[in-house]
Amino acid sequence: MNKFESKGSEGGRDRPSRQINVVLNSQPTYQSGASARVLEEDIKLPIKPLPDADHYSEIEKELDAMIGMDNVKSLVYEIYALLYIGRMRSEAGLTSGSQVYHMIFKGNPGTGKTTIARIIAKLFQKMGVLSKGHLIEVERADLVGEYIGHTAQKTRDLVRKAMGGVLFVDEAYSLARGGEKDFGKEAIDTLVKAMEDHRNQFILILAGYPAEIEDFLMTNPGLPSRFPIQIQFPDYSIDQLLQIGELMMKDREYVLLPATVFKLRECLLQAKMNELFSFSNARFVRNILEKAIRHQAVRLLHMYANSAPSKQELMAIRPEDLKS
Ligand SMILES: Nc1ncnc2c1ncn2[C@@H]1O[C@H](COP(=O)(O)OP(=O)(O)OP(=O)(O)O)[C@@H](O)[C@H]1O
Ligand SMILES: [Mg+2]
Repeated sequence: MNKFESKGSEGGRDRPSRQINVVLNSQPTYQSGASARVLEEDIKLPIKPLPDADHYSEIEKELDAMIGMDNVKSLVYEIYALLYIGRMRSEAGLTSGSQVYHMIFKGNPGTGKTTIARIIAKLFQKMGVLSKGHLIEVERADLVGEYIGHTAQKTRDLVRKAMGGVLFVDEAYSLARGGEKDFGKEAIDTLVKAMEDHRNQFILILAGYPAEIEDFLMTNPGLPSRFPIQIQFPDYSIDQLLQIGELMMKDREYVLLPATVFKLRECLLQAKMNELFSFSNARFVRNILEKAIRHQAVRLLHMYANSAPSKQELMAIRPEDLKS
């Protein structure tokens, strides 16, 4: 159960109330009579409801479809709360605090980083922070050029494309690998400058393996403070991977027979053990199941050369379809 479900209010969660009554831009004056009545009216005046106050429900639906990730879901909710209350504070004439939303995502392959980045981009768009809410996903080869000046130009072009959305740099540490003389450094410098120059126009997310990201941040001491939000994406347990697999198949209108689930569990245990540092979590599940769907198609084609399979047969993934 995630933190939203555990709350008892309607819709499964306590939303920040729109009826917070605060004094709007008025100086407290402790007088009796007419002035006091004006103040009283001010206090009761509800803040204009935010037009997109219910947009979190769409984000929540997408998050609910993700298995596990309780810490990630809580953090996304915190970001939502921060944006929502920040806007209410602005409307009340208060300062709404830091406006820096650049982030670091630390997690092994297939732990949902790109998926969550897309959801966050949408959240920021709905909350009026980003104008478009799209995601541009890049890696070293997209940013780094072949001659002096080329890298800055390539990087700037991508920042321009990401304006109004999120620029998601995967394996960000690979930019620092070549040292001082490498063009990767130029990409980092250009990104840092863009973060300053266009601080409210796009969000930069640096993502990658936890240990490498930590090293990268340690060797670039100016960087960590520029990324106030850091999110950890833990590896999935075998049970979570099985749930992810069943969900993926349900979405595609296939069914894993109990014996297939048993075999999938064995495959996952084996793969997790063999690929200790490169196991690709949910991506592994997706790949193995997509392969199983192809094998099922071939099996059915051979089995039913002269007749039609039943709907059940069309949906069932048998253990023999599962080959890693
Ligand atoms: N918790 C989850 N529940 C359901 N599906 C998930 C979950 N996490 C990841 N997936 C699915 O697994 C696949 C891989 O996820 P995603 O691409 O977001 O991972 P990633 O961390 O960005 O991987 P990489 O580091 O390899 O780029 C996607 O199809 C995604 O929908
Ligand atoms: Mg990714």
